[in-house]
Amino acid sequence: MARKFNPFRATLGATPPVLVGRSDVLEDFALALDEGPGSHERVTLITGARGIGKTVLLNAFENAATERTWWVISETATPGFVNRIRDTAYRRMVGHLREHRQRLSSVTLGGYSLNWENAESHRPDTTLRDVLTEFLDLQRQLDANLRQDPVGLLITLDELHYSVRDEVRDFGATIQHLVREDAEIAVAMAGIPGAIRPLLASNDAQNPVTFLRRANRVELGAVQDVEVELGLVGPVEDIGGRWASDALAVAVSACGGYPFMIQLVGQWSLRFSDGDVVYREAADRGVAKAQRKLGQLVHEPALEDLSDVDRTYLAAMARDDGPSRTAEVATRLGVTAQYANQYRRRLIEAEMIRSVAQGYVEFELPYMRDYLRGHIVNEAFDAVLGEEEQPRIPGL
Ligand SMILES: Nc1ncnc2c1ncn2[C@@H]1O[C@H](COP(=O)(O)OP(=O)(O)OP(=O)(O)O)[C@@H](O)[C@H]1O
Ligand SMILES: [Mg+2]
Repeated sequence: MARKFNPFRATLGATPPVLVGRSDVLEDFALALDEGPGSHERVTLITGARGIGKTVLLNAFENAATERTWWVISETATPGFVNRIRDTAYRRMVGHLREHRQRLSSVTLGGYSLNWENAESHRPDTTLRDVLTEFLDLQRQLDANLRQDPVGLLITLDELHYSVRDEVRDFGATIQHLVREDAEIAVAMAGIPGAIRPLLASNDAQNPVTFLRRANRVELGAVQDVEVELGLVGPVEDIGGRWASDALAVAVSACGGYPFMIQLVGQWSLRFSDGDVVYREAADRGVAKAQRKLGQLVHEPALEDLSDVDRTYLAAMARDDGPSRTAEVATRLGVTAQYANQYRRRLIEAEMIRSVAQGYVEFELPYMRDYLRGHIVNEAFDAVLGEEEQPRIPGL
């Protein structure tokens, strides 16, 4: 096995060597590109926990579009994204027009106000809608002229967040308009549920993000163990190696269906092996290291965003080996059930926990319990509650 090359990609946003468990979603989206305007999946909204694979799925959507010779604009929904999309569309449209100027000049471009000589700059009040409308019309004429399949535009928008709700509304209005006009356009957006829920829930008539509500919803979750296995085996075989069967079993089960863990476990198990075969010992060490890495990369930042009180709630939950009874958590914290309920709600919104049954909650992210037991429980929880002290919530 080529020792230096490690095929796994344990980095957020990095396309994995084998993308597992997403073929249905990918196929639906690709089909929608082929079927033409009006396909529901052409406007898709992906939600899911951190590290579940939203960004890499957007990348796969982009590849599907590129394979069809579509245009792709890839943006992150930070402030100013609408103008950035407008500018990118404009710049590329102009480049495209120049390339095909000769051909296009032979067809009728009636109705265009575009100044061919000054195509470098556009008026500051030009909207995204103006630019996309022009762009799509010109592309349509070019397609007709060349007698080729319609070339569309895919816009991907990652890290969608309610803090940019005004821009999302403008963007949505533009896209909805173009979709109504049967334009060759597709949009795929992604974000964590907590950042998107407020957008979907908004009842404000002035802020109707109906565009998002109507979108095709893809809720990404864990992948099946058989898929995890494919994700671990394929890349190792590709570099001429293999997993010993007991090592593979350990690795698969450690991933718990969580895509980020496939990459972490794969990467570290390989690093700890020194022959062509990944043996049990390397897998055990790889798993332990992967869990620590997951703590640093996912758990720690997620916990940092929370208040002390919220962390204490999680620490109280971590004392259970499985789902926690909310009444029991309240008792551990020494507060009333109603009081604890407020934290529970906040933590659900923050994607840290989920309700699993009436009166029970469970951690959203894999290995959060272990992480809390190893770090927060001892340092924060015991320090806050004290062994002998009357339990109290800090800051209250
Ligand atoms: N389907 C998959 N198969 C194999 N590996 C995957 C899959 N999806 C994601 N990964 C791997 O998991 C890691 C996280 O993926 P990604 O960055 O797409 O997550 P995300 O949902 O966008 O996370 P965040 O919310 O933090 O942006 C990457 O290392 C990626 O290679
Ligand atoms: Mg991402």
